[in-house]
Amino acid sequence: MSRTGGEPPPLPTVCRTALWTARMRADESRAASPCVVDPWAAEFVAAAGPQDPPPGGPEARSFLHDGVAVRSRYFDDYLLEAVAGGCSQAVLLGAGLDARAFRLPWPRPVDVFEVDLPDLLDFKNRVVGARAPAAARRITVAADLRDAWADALIAAGFDPARRTAWLCEGTLVYLEPDQADAVVRTMAAHSPPGSEVGAETMTSQDGLGCLRSCRDTLSAGGASWRWAPRDPAAWWAERGWRMTVPDPASLPYAAERMAPYLPMLRQAGDAGGWLLTGTRCGPGPAAPPA
Ligand SMILES: C[S@@+](CC[C@H](N)C(=O)[O-])C[C@H]1O[C@@H](n2cnc3c(N)ncnc32)[C@H](O)[C@@H]1O
Repeated sequence: MSRTGGEPPPLPTVCRTALWTARMRADESRAASPCVVDPWAAEFVAAAGPQDPPPGGPEARSFLHDGVAVRSRYFDDYLLEAVAGGCSQAVLLGAGLDARAFRLPWPRPVDVFEVDLPDLLDFKNRVVGARAPAAARRITVAADLRDAWADALIAAGFDPARRTAWLCEGTLVYLEPDQADAVVRTMAAHSPPGSEVGAETMTSQDGLGCLRSCRDTLSAGGASWRWAPRDPAAWWAERGWRMTVPDPASLPYAAERMAPYLPMLRQAGDAGGWLLTGTRCGPGPAAPPA
């Protein structure tokens, strides 16, 4: 896309992935029976100006659109239940253009920490301006999850003694396996019992042919998909989290949406574990080295 003078530089590819998921939520919000209605998504997309569409062909785009719609609803429900159940702070790791601080009907006051790279949060905060959520307190934390991000989180007001609802939605896949390991151990080390987590894992990315060109385009931009444990529930358990893995076909809003893709997923040898939620189980792992 050509730029005129005075515009901020384009977002790096790994941050533009957040614009693509926002665009999918904006489209979903206009659907006849949407899984999620996110009025902020269209605002972010408009503010970004003309952009290349998400990479990949039509099959990949419809798969990713339906996947983002289902996962958004799944994690909306997870966060609302976790907060209703006693978590008084939520930490969105790789929050991107997540507008849940604004758009969710939080059952009680909650601190929502949005952790992401500085470029992404600069863009987001330009769009959000001074607007404040009704029921949440929104705190942005510019940090790189490959570094010592917990220090920045605590400096921003996060309290490791309070029960927390963590969310890793579309994020860990961009980290190397050892970096994802450190992130999840750090979460565990800062979570009292009763804390919860929601996470997404792309177990079958190698086998999904329709995603190949999408993956190649991301890699060319330095945003490779790097982390894909074969048994996500076991992987999380080793790091202090007891996970539940729903069958997406059993979720009422997901069954019809995901049905067209089940043959492709089965053929790819999908080990399951795309969307997970779980709780902190102790005593768990030691924190990773600082
Ligand atoms: C696919 S987007 C998902 C955004 C949001 N969670 C959603 O579902 O719409 C991935 C996000 O992870 C962020 N991200 C990737 N690598 C990161 C890192 N090393 N540190 C912090 N954020 C990172 C990107 O900037 C981007 O906002």
